[in-house]
This record gives sequence, structure tokens and C-alpha cells, in this order.
Amino acid sequence: DWTMGAYREEAIRLIREQVGDQKVICGLSGGVDSSVAAVLIHEAIGDQLTCVFVDHGLLREGEAEQVVTMFRDHYNMPLIHAQEQDLFLDALEGVSDPEVKRKTIGKLFIDVFQKHASEVGGATFLAQGTLYPDVIESVSFSGGPSVTIKSHHNVGGLPEKMGLKLVEPLRELFKDEVRALGRELGLPDSFIGRHPFPGPGLAIRCPGEITREKLAILRRADAVFIDQIRKHGLYDEIWQAFVALLPVRTVGVMGDGRTYDYACAMRAVTSVDGMTADYYPFSHEFLGETATRIINEVRGINRVTYDVTSKPPGTIEWE
Ligand code: XMP
Repeated sequence: DWTMGAYREEAIRLIREQVGDQKVICGLSGGVDSSVAAVLIHEAIGDQLTCVFVDHGLLREGEAEQVVTMFRDHYNMPLIHAQEQDLFLDALEGVSDPEVKRKTIGKLFIDVFQKHASEVGGATFLAQGTLYPDVIESVSFSGGPSVTIKSHHNVGGLPEKMGLKLVEPLRELFKDEVRALGRELGLPDSFIGRHPFPGPGLAIRCPGEITREKLAILRRADAVFIDQIRKHGLYDEIWQAFVALLPVRTVGVMGDGRTYDYACAMRAVTSVDGMTADYYPFSHEFLGETATRIINEVRGINRVTYDVTSKPPGTIEWE
């Protein structure tokens, strides 16, 4: 794509001009935006960039390994893998209110990011994968009355708190343009086409109180569901798909025995921007096959449901 080729060159020139010989830190989430921003900035200034990847223990199966392998081993970027699972999970113990969960995670995230970023020493810039719609949204939110349905976990206020200037090379781009730029930079399609994943991660897909046991069960079920979606060639037709582990045990039969295990809900939606969404119309064969696989392969789940709520009135996530 010639447009993106030109954009890439110009963006690199601007990053070099802005940063000079200073150091930059970048929070890497594994999502498309921060990944593209990191690769672009790394191309511009090389090892003056260090990425910080916070593992809050609420990631999906294999996710941390994928991110570390990709950026540290494939792109040779200086990367701090902040393994703070215990800190987050201990703080979340006994917490069941969705907003308290988000705030607990958001606050710790900032503390942990700040702590690890300070290991870099002498950084003067913070890189963020802010997109054009984010810029617009924050302006209109601050301008008028707004109803906050869910407090999004982000790093708002972090640059001021850390005394850092911002580098935001994607500020003029829409999502599809970021994807095109990512392809131009050689990021694999498996990264570029990834479904969005919320900052609080699996915490908001585990309604009620979170435990390590529940998270382990949820991770396995989610992996089976996504595997099924990929095997049936449906991944790219879906905006987001995941399993939510319900805080309820139900009775089942397995062989000659009675089981008493968790129920889960599969969720898959189509959407353009996440603001509205329709549930994905899977075939009954697909639903039945996937339910059977989850029950057979995931110890701890004996009942599978499919969430057919659209947004509105539902939200995409369960919390
Ligand atoms: P809802 O559930 O509000 O989600 O329909 C809309 C989109 O936003 C994502 N989401 C979040 N992302 N922090 C995030 O970074 C959050 O707290 C959060 N809550 C929801 C959700 O995954 C979907 O893409």
C-alpha cells in the first residue's frame, strides 16, 4: 500500500525529530494499537525505546508468551515483562463489584507500570497507541454531560504523574489504517487481526469474585471456543468472542456419576466500533460441537450456554 508506505516514512521522520536522542518507554498490551506503535517507534529510534508489558494474571491462555516471543525475540526490542500476577490477584481477592474490580486493576496497573518504567532510567517520553477516534471521544466526553456506563481502564493521567511527554504516532489514524500500517511494518496477520481485549482482561469475564481456580477454568474454556472459531474459519467475521465463567454451579451427569460444576456462557458479536453489537448467528451444529468439546476438555465446567443478547440492551462484556 503506497499510502501507508509514505505514512510510515513520514511518521518515522517525525518521531526522530520529536525524540532526538532521548529515551522512550511504551506500555505494550499485546493489542493491535500498542503493538503497531511500538514497532513503528522501534524502527525510528531502535533501542532508545523500551517496552513494558504488565502481566496482571488476567490474560488469556498463552498470551504473555506470545507477546514476549514476538517483541523480545522476533523484533529484538528491549522489553520488561512485569510479572505481577500475585499483586493483582491478591488485591482482587474478595472483590465482586465490577467497578471496584476495574478501579483496583486500573490503579495497580499505573503503580506497576510506573515502578517498572522507572527501571529504564532517564526516559523522557511515554509512547501511546492513541487513535483518532480516542482523541475525538475524549474531547466530546470532557465537553458535555456524559453517562459513564463502565469506567474504562486506561493510563489516563500517567504522563503528568510521571513527568513524561507523549509520543502518539497513531493519533491521526483510524483502526483500519492502523492495521494497514501494521502490515506495512511486517506484523503478522495473527496480531493485526486480533479481536479487541479489555484492559481488565479476564476479570470482567468472571462475574463476581475472582479466584485463581476460576481463572484457570475460564482460560481453558476460552481457548477451546476460540480454537473452534478458528477451525471453522469464522474468526475474521467476528468482532469479539470469548467465554464468561458464571458464578454458579449446576448439576450434571457424566458416566454414572453426578457432577456439580460451573456453568459458562459463550459470547460472540459482530460490530463496527464496539458501540453497538449483534450476537453472532452460529449454526446449531457449531454450538453443539463446541459445547461438547468444552465439557469434555475443561474440567470444572458441566454446562455451556450461548449469550444471544445484542448491544444495546446488553454490553459486550459481562461486567
Ligand atoms: P462493552 O462491554 O462496554 O464493551 O459493550 C465495549 C468494548 O470495550 C471493551 N471494554 C473495555 N476495554 N477497559 C478496556 O480497555 C475496560 O474496562 C473495558 N470494558 C469493556 C470491550 O471489550 C469491548 O471491545
